Amino acid sequence: MLAYAGYKQKSGEIPDFKGRVVLVTGASSGIGKQLAKDLNKNGAEVIITARRVEQLEEVKKECQFPEKIHVVQMDLANIEELTQIAKDLNNKFKIDMLINNGGISMRDEFKNLSLKMAKQMMNVNYLSVCALSRYIGEGMVARKSGHIINNVSMAGLFPVPLRTIYSASKYAVKLFSNSARAELRDSGIVVTDVFPGYVQTNISANALVGDGSAFGKIDDNISKGMKVEELSRRILHYSRKNEEQNKGKPSLFKFLFVDYSRLVVDKFYVKLAAILSCLDDDIYKFISQIKYKSQIKVMRKAQ
Ligand SMILES: NC(=O)c1ccc[n+]([C@@H]2O[C@H](COP(=O)([O-])OP(=O)(O)OC[C@H]3O[C@@H](n4cnc5c(N)ncnc54)[C@H](OP(=O)(O)O)[C@@H]3O)[C@@H](O)[C@H]2O)c1
Repeated sequence: MLAYAGYKQKSGEIPDFKGRVVLVTGASSGIGKQLAKDLNKNGAEVIITARRVEQLEEVKKECQFPEKIHVVQMDLANIEELTQIAKDLNNKFKIDMLINNGGISMRDEFKNLSLKMAKQMMNVNYLSVCALSRYIGEGMVARKSGHIINNVSMAGLFPVPLRTIYSASKYAVKLFSNSARAELRDSGIVVTDVFPGYVQTNISANALVGDGSAFGKIDDNISKGMKVEELSRRILHYSRKNEEQNKGKPSLFKFLFVDYSRLVVDKFYVKLAAILSCLDDDIYKFISQIKYKSQIKVMRKAQ
């Protein structure tokens, strides 16, 4: 809960990633680009993915150790294709960490919404997370070790106006994570969710309006938001703390007071609202971990 509230978030360095292979989606811009650069600087071999390969090549050039960067084109909207790409990547690399970061936001009223746009957003923001976690996760499960980090959003904690589908897609990621975390813990896989508020990126310019075209402007909330360097440092610092915490036994105390599996990065009053909105979440998260084994038993008995 304290990590959830951002306790002591301001301190903490990016840990060493030497020897680790990390896959970052949406690395051609914004938060993903910064994560890729920081991971590379701190020793990781990084697979960077997005649709725009020329932007990814630029990111590679900006990295301190470009020879440890692998560029892979990936369209997160094309779920069937993702499955095959993930399998190919697992054959080529032992991926230790998957950062599901790529995504698109929304700036429009519900009444203007087209279903084509809604489908695109659900695929990119939610189903791609399921597909990559499942198929990149396959390699992790086989090795009994790995870490999946999901860049969710404050909009996945409580509803934000003009973001109907965006909020729903991010909320879906949160629930997917909560359930997967309970199951994957026994396989040695850690799941961390990050819930940022406004961050200075191209997110609003790239956000979709109802007909599926781009909003095209950086709005005031985004231009006054947190810097990507700061968010990246917090994500990498706290996700390592979550790895360390997962080595211990689950306890109600940890779930309620020092839970590093979910990191909220925003102003104090937003964090407070997040805590209130998720008090029930904490309790269900604890119960789901305990109940996981009995659910498996019930399912097997019925088969
Ligand atoms: N900025 C914020 O205020 C904020 C707050 C909370 C959460 N977030 C989350 O942070 C994540 C990163 O966003 P950002 O702020 O860094 O925005 P951004 O600068 O617009 O970057 C978005 C990234 O996602 C990739 N992407 C979008 N559609 C894709 C697709 N169909 N296939 C593959 N990649 C795709 C883009 O690459 P290509 O265009 O090259 O494909 C780009 O690299 C998103 O999931 C967003 O929801 C952002």
